[in-house]
Parts: sequence; structure tokens; C-alpha cells
Amino acid sequence: MSSSALPRTGRPVKTTGLHTGEIKPGVAKLDPIIVADNITRTFGGIHAVNVEHLEIPRGAITALIGPNGAGKTTLFNLLTGFDKPNTGTWTFNGKSISGMAAFKVARLGQIRTFQLTKALGLLTVLDNMKLGAKDQIGEGLFRSLFPFFWRKQDIELEARASELLVKFKLDAKSSDYAASLSGGQRKLLEMARALMSNPTLVMLDEPMAGVNPALTQSLLEHILDLKNEGMTVLFVEHDMAMVSHIADWVVVMAEGQVVAEGPPDVVMKNPAVIDAYLGAHQDVDLGIVTGRVNDKGEQL
Ligand SMILES: Nc1ncnc2c1ncn2[C@@H]1O[C@H](COP(=O)(O)OP(=O)(O)O)[C@@H](O)[C@H]1O
Ligand SMILES: [Mg+2]
Repeated sequence: MSSSALPRTGRPVKTTGLHTGEIKPGVAKLDPIIVADNITRTFGGIHAVNVEHLEIPRGAITALIGPNGAGKTTLFNLLTGFDKPNTGTWTFNGKSISGMAAFKVARLGQIRTFQLTKALGLLTVLDNMKLGAKDQIGEGLFRSLFPFFWRKQDIELEARASELLVKFKLDAKSSDYAASLSGGQRKLLEMARALMSNPTLVMLDEPMAGVNPALTQSLLEHILDLKNEGMTVLFVEHDMAMVSHIADWVVVMAEGQVVAEGPPDVVMKNPAVIDAYLGAHQDVDLGIVTGRVNDKGEQL
């Protein structure tokens, strides 16, 4: 953890003043990085995503929460060009990217990771990192015509990859096959690989799922570091304690819709949120969800 991420109190520095006007689903942000309108995606009869209006604040950590099947991954897939919506338009950095192919979205600086990690097991950790770089200009014709430039780019990529692998404590594994990594280390590799292209917006789909507690802390710190380095983070997470610890803003989805959004302490005591979790997430410890308010609904 960089010392700037945690003040002496041990709590992350929260970004305040992200929205403008009354806090409700679709509320405008002072400086949105993503603005989405009327996004719908159906599978057969299921309305997987039905988002009227959503803005993601720039320079902050936004958590996307909601029960299983709420449409979080589908929304990620749509916003990053990995799936096509039935309807909808959206912008990234003020530029319309609706319907744009995933590789082009990534080139613009909007990078995502997957709920099920996509590390290529039969490539080494280092080669997985190099594949994460967006400008593979050494490929194809260019590579055969100008081998010198290819080598120069390759050396630069390796330097960047090595630097990130040290940061993510994977440098000792650099020449191991990705298949030999633990589940948690693969999550770290995937996050490190996403950073190869110096993204502006990093979208993480359940980065902590299946990760042991020791690595969870390190993943949390890496997410805070992304913000400290100037990136915007949007991540999907189930653990409310983690969400309230690091998120500046929380968006809650249920049955495809945004049912609530706001700062974590406000969202966690919203009855619609508690309902959404009680409805489909019996295993969630509501002591955590409601733990910040007393029986009169006052904050503790
Ligand atoms: N490729 C698909 N084909 C059919 N149904 C899908 C597909 N992807 C998602 N769904 C359905 O869409 C809904 C939302 O799924 P998903 O976006 O994965 O939710 P979440 O990530 O919030 O758990 C679920 O009902 C799911 O079964
Ligand atoms: Mg999902």
C-alpha cells in the first residue's frame, strides 16, 4: 500500500462531492466518465439489463453491487463491447462508443477484467502480460518489415511488464506457466495485465471472488492504488464490508435495473438495497449491510 492511500487513521481517503442534485438512481455526476442511456439487453424473455440512465464518476472508485443474476456482468459486457444491446447509447470520456468493438473500446483506455479469469494457462506469466498491451504494432506486416521496431517495442513491453509484476508480487513467477498460479494469483495477474495499456477506466468483475483473505487485502490495496494513480475504477463485488471500505460511490442493480445509488453509507441503509439482498442473497450478513445504523435508522 502506498502511504498516500491510507491516512494515519487507516481508512482510505474517500472522494466526496461526486454527484449533483438529489441522490436517486440515474443522478447526474459532476464529472462523469461514462454516461449511459436506455440500455436494454434481453435473453429470451429475461430482461438481463434495463438501465434508463447511469453516470459513472471520474477519478473515483464505484462499486456495482446486486444479487446474482442482477445483470452486472451483462452491463459490463455491453459497456466494453463484448456484447450488443437491444437498445441503448453510451459515451466514454464524452465520445459515443455504443456498439463499438471491444478491442477499440480497450484502445480508448477502457479496460475490463472477467469474472472467470482469462489468463492463458499455456503462456508464461510474462507473455500473458505482454498480450495485455494495447498497441501490438509489432504484429503482422509491420513486424516483418521493421524487425528493429518490433524488438524495441518488445523490450519496452517487457520492462513495463516486469515493473508491474514486481508491484503485484508476481515477479518470481514471471517465466512460470499461468496455469501453475493459484486462483488468487491469477486474479492479480489479470489486474496487472489490464494495466499494461495504461488505461483510464479499469472495470473489474468480481476481482475478490475465490481469493484467500491474505490476497484479498492485497487486491484491495491495488484497487486503491489505481485511484491514487489517477485511474477511475468500476468494480463488481458482493462483500459489503469491502465495498464500504474502499468505494466512493455504490450503484445497486436488481433484475436488470439500477434500484439505488449513492455514497456507501447512504446506500447501505436504503430499504431497496436490503430488500434486493434479502430477496436473493439470504447468505449476506445483514449485520454488515445495516451495521452502520441503529434501530431508529440513525447512523452510528
Ligand atoms: N449469454 C447468456 N444467455 C442467456 N442468458 C444470460 C446470458 N448471460 C446472462 N444471462 C442471464 O441474464 C441475467 C443477468 O446475468 P448476469 O449479467 O450474469 O448477472 P450478474 O453478473 O449480476 O450475476 C441472468 O438471468 C442470466 O441468467
Ligand atoms: Mg456476474
